[in-house]
Amino acid sequence: MRRIETIEPFRVMQLLERAKQLEAAGRHIVHMEIGEPDFPTPPSVIEAAHHALDTHGQFYTPSTGLPELRHALSDWYRREYGVEVAPERILITPGTSGAFSLLYAVLLENGESVLLSDPGYPCQRNFIRLAGGEPIAVPVGPDTRYHLSAELIETHWRRDTRAAVLINPSNPTGTLIHDDALAELAACCRDRGGYLISDEIYHGLTYGARARTALAFDDQAIVVNGFSKRWAMTGWRIGWIIVPETLIDACRRVMQNIFIAAPTLSQYAALAALDAEREVEHMRTSYAERRAALLASLPQLGFEIVVEPQGAFYIYANVRRLTDDATAFCHALLEQAGVAITPGADFGQHQANTHVRFSYATGLDDIRQGIARITDFLADTGHTS
Ligand SMILES: Cc1ncc(COP(=O)(O)O)c(C=O)c1O
Repeated sequence: MRRIETIEPFRVMQLLERAKQLEAAGRHIVHMEIGEPDFPTPPSVIEAAHHALDTHGQFYTPSTGLPELRHALSDWYRREYGVEVAPERILITPGTSGAFSLLYAVLLENGESVLLSDPGYPCQRNFIRLAGGEPIAVPVGPDTRYHLSAELIETHWRRDTRAAVLINPSNPTGTLIHDDALAELAACCRDRGGYLISDEIYHGLTYGARARTALAFDDQAIVVNGFSKRWAMTGWRIGWIIVPETLIDACRRVMQNIFIAAPTLSQYAALAALDAEREVEHMRTSYAERRAALLASLPQLGFEIVVEPQGAFYIYANVRRLTDDATAFCHALLEQAGVAITPGADFGQHQANTHVRFSYATGLDDIRQGIARITDFLADTGHTS
């Protein structure tokens, strides 16, 4: 099969398209399918971009990013996590998506494999395939808080495996990995001569617990993060990757060729974002309220939440008491009740038919309306828990 034939569409986008069609036809839709902050980007960030546009924002920056931003991020790691990261190891990318395509281009030879959790963020496997690698989906469940574990790595690691990916807090489950499990995971990858890749894009969006960077456990871990979620900057396409020194030169050469550089205006905006902690805290508090509303209602309706999610803006629920076809269930819910949620099939195959993901990146009023509509839908369609 040609490589391009292995690339699947990003399905949540398809559900979103249908929701938009219904909206265009005059229906009100409650959007709990989208993993995109509904808040505006903080004003100080927008101001910084305006200023950059009025001054030097039209030009390329160095390929690895604005030196000021790389230094500011290095300081931020000291403040945020108490870890030392040399600015030279921090590379600025067009979103974390850009970081992943760069990383796999650097890391993988044809046919080499990477371990991923199933369920997990769906684009990952396609980044790996595009680089000629093979994603290995490892089924995960509540026993490991839906994360890869040292034990799972031991079972699934192959001679051609180069890395394992952790998404912490997880998309789609919102769960955090425990510190000891993270330490073991990092040690296990290192013992095998491979890398732990830690996607930390939802850091800062945690409720009652703090996420720790993988770098606090393994200085050679590869960390990917970005401004899309915590700072509500999805459309700015800006992120970063932290790599061990041995990979810097290869990354630089690839970056020079495939991106030239991340968008200049967005890099100046990102620099301002690092000081926008007050706005970030406001968004986090709002997410916490929405999360509480859903956690209080969903279990009573038959959506089982087996591991309490502590981060991101997702709740992953087991719907086995309601249906054995989560995809059909989500489509019916959208068509009949005007509520969009994402079926498990978007995140992998493992028990996909009995799981759905709720996103609370939407306002509290809509969430309340969504809960009321789901209640009526379940009653009308005879779904009982
Ligand atoms: C776990 C995870 N990683 C990466 C991304 C991509 O983010 P970016 O906008 O930085 O490309 C997403 C987006 O939903 C995500 O959920």
